[in-house]
Amino acid sequence: MADSKSAKLLVEGKEIELPILSPTAGPDVLDIRKLYGQADVFTYDPGFTSTASCDSTITYIDGDKGELWYRGYPIEQLAAESHYLEVCYLLLYGELPTEAQLVDFETRVTRHTMVHEQMHNFFRGFRRDAHPMATMVGVVGAMSAFYHDSTDIADPLQREIASIRLIAKLPTIAAMAYKYSIGQPFVYPRNDLDYASNFLHMCFAVPAEPYNVDPALARAMDRIFTLHADHEQNASTSTVRLAGSSGANPFACIAAGIACLWGPAHGGANQACLEMLREIGSVDRIPEYIAKAKDKNDPFRLMGFGHRVYKNFDPRAKVMKESADEVLELLGVHNNPTLQVAKELERIALEDEYFVSKKLYPNVDFYSGIILEAMGFPTSMFTPIFALSRTVGWISQWKEMIGDPQNKIGRPRQLYVGADKRDYVDLDKR
Ligand code: CMC
Repeated sequence: MADSKSAKLLVEGKEIELPILSPTAGPDVLDIRKLYGQADVFTYDPGFTSTASCDSTITYIDGDKGELWYRGYPIEQLAAESHYLEVCYLLLYGELPTEAQLVDFETRVTRHTMVHEQMHNFFRGFRRDAHPMATMVGVVGAMSAFYHDSTDIADPLQREIASIRLIAKLPTIAAMAYKYSIGQPFVYPRNDLDYASNFLHMCFAVPAEPYNVDPALARAMDRIFTLHADHEQNASTSTVRLAGSSGANPFACIAAGIACLWGPAHGGANQACLEMLREIGSVDRIPEYIAKAKDKNDPFRLMGFGHRVYKNFDPRAKVMKESADEVLELLGVHNNPTLQVAKELERIALEDEYFVSKKLYPNVDFYSGIILEAMGFPTSMFTPIFALSRTVGWISQWKEMIGDPQNKIGRPRQLYVGADKRDYVDLDKR
């Protein structure tokens, strides 16, 4: 990051020199940190469409080329060659682990998969029909009450333990939220299973009979985790960073990230997408929905299409689509009506002038729901699965921020357009 380049800005006749920072990859960044002090003006960028909120070494997206790297490694290579816990190590510590480091990391994670037994009582306070995301926001926030020995953010060891606890316990918590919602007993984690197999086991096993995890499905699950592990400064990650910038503990920050992820414009899109496919119901109704999506007076959007950064294609969607084909083949799902609608919708939208000109391509959420449904997950579990996969990204970004000496509390300014200063009017005079 060199700042030998600069830009000049003329503010009402006063020339201001702004340094230009050059990243490893991607567009240069105009450093406006001193702008307010020098020129008494703010910049205005709702939705942060042109604003870098931090510097980071973790994840890089090239939206025009449709590329995603974790620590420099392309997502396609990681999805094909690596596995989720190795990717977690890479995101957390910056390099691929040696064999010994990987064994040690896997051991540390698997030794933390159980949750405090009293947490079971906490779950029982929720209504049975609570959405698993609602339960997760509450339970993950409550981790700071159950694990307060790892909430001192000034202690690197406590930060490390909190990170491992979050990566290890989120699958357990997501599976418990699911079991609770269907009235089945909680299934304890099994540390002889790999991360993805253990999650499938905790979701689908019952005490009454043995459950064998299909290794091919476990591999597909692991790939879903890997594809969702991190994604630069998206809304939920920025939420985690903003919450963390005040010094809040890591469990509170991740709960904030989960809450943000829930929205249908973000992680909630996978559930919304499958519900939309079901609502469309048959191929002949697709034109009606395409017309709704194009109608400026109709708020309807094709869920699972479009992305703030990707304007070519979403590289995760490409891998996810291949994975969906494999899983459906494996499970013998061929004539599922939802799948038929999805395939035809994708074909029509990719040829439609509106979607082509606005560069709206299927995103990761378009295909993930199809795989998860085929595996037997209800739609309400789609976003919790996204949340558990993204936890490593959130915690890596949080750790990076806490360790950065330049870290200060996030505090955006505003363009005030409300009433001008005025005097209070007594009640009888209004
Ligand atoms: N269907 C129809 N039109 C769309 C869609 C869509 N899915 N997405 C964007 N547009 C149109 C939008 O109406 C606008 O048109 P115009 O320029 O005429 O006003 C134009 O495309 C640009 O849209 P935008 O809202 O300014 O773009 P954005 O970068 O603010 O929003 C997005 C990105 C992902 C929120 C949006 O594309 C969307 O709502 N997609 C559907 C929800 C979805 O699938 N979200 C998952 C995103 S990927 C995973 C994740 O982040 O969690």
